[in-house]
Amino acid sequence: MMGDSERRILSTNMNENLGDSNSSSILKVYGSYGIVGAVIVAIAIPILLSILMGKRKSKQRGVPVQVGGEVGLAMRNARSVKLVEVPWEGATTMAALFEQSCKKHSQERCIGMRKVTSKEFVTANDGRKFEKLHLGEYQWETYGQVFDRACNFASGIVKLGHDVDTRAAIFADTRPEWLIAFQGCFRQNITVVTIYASLGDDAVIHSLNETQVPTLVCESKQLKKLAAISSSLKTIRNVIYFDDEETSSSSSVNQDMDNWRISSFSEVEKLGRDSSVQPRLPIKTDIAVIMYTSGSTGLPKGVMITHGNIVATAAAVMTVIPRMGSKDVYLAYLPLAHVFELAAETVMLTAGAAIGYGSTLTLTDTSNKIKKGTKGDASALKPTLMAAVPAILDRVRDGVLKKVDEKGGFSKKLFNIAYSRRLAAIGGSWFGAWGLETFLWDIIIFKKIRSILGGEIRFMLCGGAPLSGDTQRFINICMGAPIGQGYGLTETCAGATFSESDDTSVGRVGPPLPCCYIKLVSWEEGGYAITDKPMPRGEILVGGCSVTAGYFNNESKTKEVYKVDERDMHWFYTGDIGRFHPDGCLEIIDRKKDIVKLQHGEYISLGKVEAALMSSDYVENIMIYADPFHNFCVGLVVPSHQVLEGWAQEAGIKYKDFSELCDKPEAIKEVQRSLSKEAKAAKLDKFEIPAKIKLLPEPWTPESGLVTAALKLKREQLKNKFKNELQELYE
Ligand SMILES: *[C@@H]1O[C@H](CO)[C@@H](O)[C@H](O)[C@H]1NC(C)=O
Ligand SMILES: *[C@@H]1O[C@H](CO)[C@@H](O)[C@H](O)[C@H]1NC(C)=O
Ligand SMILES: *[C@@H]1O[C@H](CO)[C@@H](O)[C@H](O)[C@H]1NC(C)=O
Repeated sequence: MMGDSERRILSTNMNENLGDSNSSSILKVYGSYGIVGAVIVAIAIPILLSILMGKRKSKQRGVPVQVGGEVGLAMRNARSVKLVEVPWEGATTMAALFEQSCKKHSQERCIGMRKVTSKEFVTANDGRKFEKLHLGEYQWETYGQVFDRACNFASGIVKLGHDVDTRAAIFADTRPEWLIAFQGCFRQNITVVTIYASLGDDAVIHSLNETQVPTLVCESKQLKKLAAISSSLKTIRNVIYFDDEETSSSSSVNQDMDNWRISSFSEVEKLGRDSSVQPRLPIKTDIAVIMYTSGSTGLPKGVMITHGNIVATAAAVMTVIPRMGSKDVYLAYLPLAHVFELAAETVMLTAGAAIGYGSTLTLTDTSNKIKKGTKGDASALKPTLMAAVPAILDRVRDGVLKKVDEKGGFSKKLFNIAYSRRLAAIGGSWFGAWGLETFLWDIIIFKKIRSILGGEIRFMLCGGAPLSGDTQRFINICMGAPIGQGYGLTETCAGATFSESDDTSVGRVGPPLPCCYIKLVSWEEGGYAITDKPMPRGEILVGGCSVTAGYFNNESKTKEVYKVDERDMHWFYTGDIGRFHPDGCLEIIDRKKDIVKLQHGEYISLGKVEAALMSSDYVENIMIYADPFHNFCVGLVVPSHQVLEGWAQEAGIKYKDFSELCDKPEAIKEVQRSLSKEAKAAKLDKFEIPAKIKLLPEPWTPESGLVTAALKLKREQLKNKFKNELQELYE
């Protein structure tokens, strides 16, 4: 569900950013001798206590529920009999929620931002120039002030001549004004079209044209790009750009776009401040957002999200994060045009938390754009809550491990002892997980690591793609904070399941959020059934308050994946395959389509890759397999006897039979070389080229049940038959 935006996050060098922080000081603490005594105490006491206290019973988190619609097995959140629709009575729309929260928290910090203190360019060894920023402390506006600004923007956009029955679009990176413009539009019941800042021209043109947008809100740096495609943006009349220190060039842009009225964000706010316009508030079934998500194929689709959807998701997530409140500080840096971040920030507004804005390039003290010796966003803000995508957490982990490895010796041993002790404690007793031992190890080892993200993180929200168990554990232990792993799609307004903070298992995405039901329905072709043992399996359906209204301007696609049952409940067919654990938690185990989202969020279309690689002479048949918990794919190849044997003869390779030839490393290498060549010719991405392959001597025939009569691959059957081979390829 993340697509392009995630790729963008990936491309910023988070690895160094997070890993290098406090490089030399992380492990200095190890030096003192008192440590040995502390270590002994740390190990001995919890062992004794855990023997005395015994193990905790596993807790029921999801329970079966009777629902309408297609036959299947449905679960609801165990804590909530009725579906949660609103965080509190009366907050039925984003506009109402925001207004009421701003009244309630009017004097408290709402939005914070850092100003640039100074800027410099450094030249790297290879001659490339990098901009380095020295950013100041966070400067805050209260909920009361932010509410006023949103009201001013609402009036200003009307004064500007925007017809409230038409839509407005936001095309920008995450920043405070994004949220203000967004909330401002809702006060006039204007539907907001959101577009990833990283989408290509075709996608931007398509989204703006399809929704007939007359007013576009963007960053000043995008004015040039928009001018270049202005002849294709026929519906645009007004462009509002965010003020920047660098923006003084708007007049020069003006000439290129004389039929556009270009205004700065502050001009629009002033327009509204000078003469206010009566609000025109929406109701819960009105469309709040049309969110364009980068599809894995073709043009992006606009998902229609209602006000009711967003407040339901926010209300539900509120119940999952323990002790949410106005003391919380949230670091906002993921793209707001993505439903995950949008939902997270809405949750913060609901709780009255402080939202400090940052960016991936300035996140930590060692981030690329941060001047040496100055503070990154996390250490300046000291957030208590943070959202992350797996790609970012993987980098945190790799960075820390790299540092530990570099240190080596006693430091590394101590880290490993601490880590394995904490790991054992998590699986074991209640006291072991949260008691004295935790406390001691924290002081000895983990405190310094935590300071990378400011040292105050108490809960992390993770979503966007599956998180590997290893990384989840690592972050749990080193950051000392539970990770709430969410599963959801734009079509379900991010809300589907969410793992609970006291759940220490890995690899699962938790029970249904209280705003929706999760239903599994059998998928016969795929061999998944709700009667499967030991756990029921099937396609995942989401039903309830967070299920969106469908795709904009595409009824046939909407009808295909959204169904309304006899009780008027809306169900979304996710195309993902899952299974329910006995405690009611969901685990994602497969995808129905042949499109797999890799661990870092890239989509890999198996069919496309196979078609490209088939052009190699060596390939008689090929199946690409991609495990979503890895960032590469592997391949099973049936080689052509004739071509492979011809090559072997020429290369002077000796072999008994074809099967032995297939196992020869030289043969595998040769076929792989040929595949890489074809992949390059077809312009495949690196992650689309199988990292490892296995050559299989036996052809796949319809008789063997591995391909259809039309010789199409039967993936499920192939996967089953070559389970062990595939597993080996990933080792
Ligand atoms: C814009 O949309 C109209 C229909 O609303 C369509 O006829 C036209 O081809 C589209 N133009 C572009 C550039 O996509
Ligand atoms: C909000 O706007 C939509 C679209 O223009 C309209 O259909 C709806 O009736 C409006 N809602 C209210 C409460 O006026
Ligand atoms: C609707 O979506 C389908 C599938 O994504 C696509 O093939 C079709 O062209 C879309 N129709 C319109 C009117 O955009």
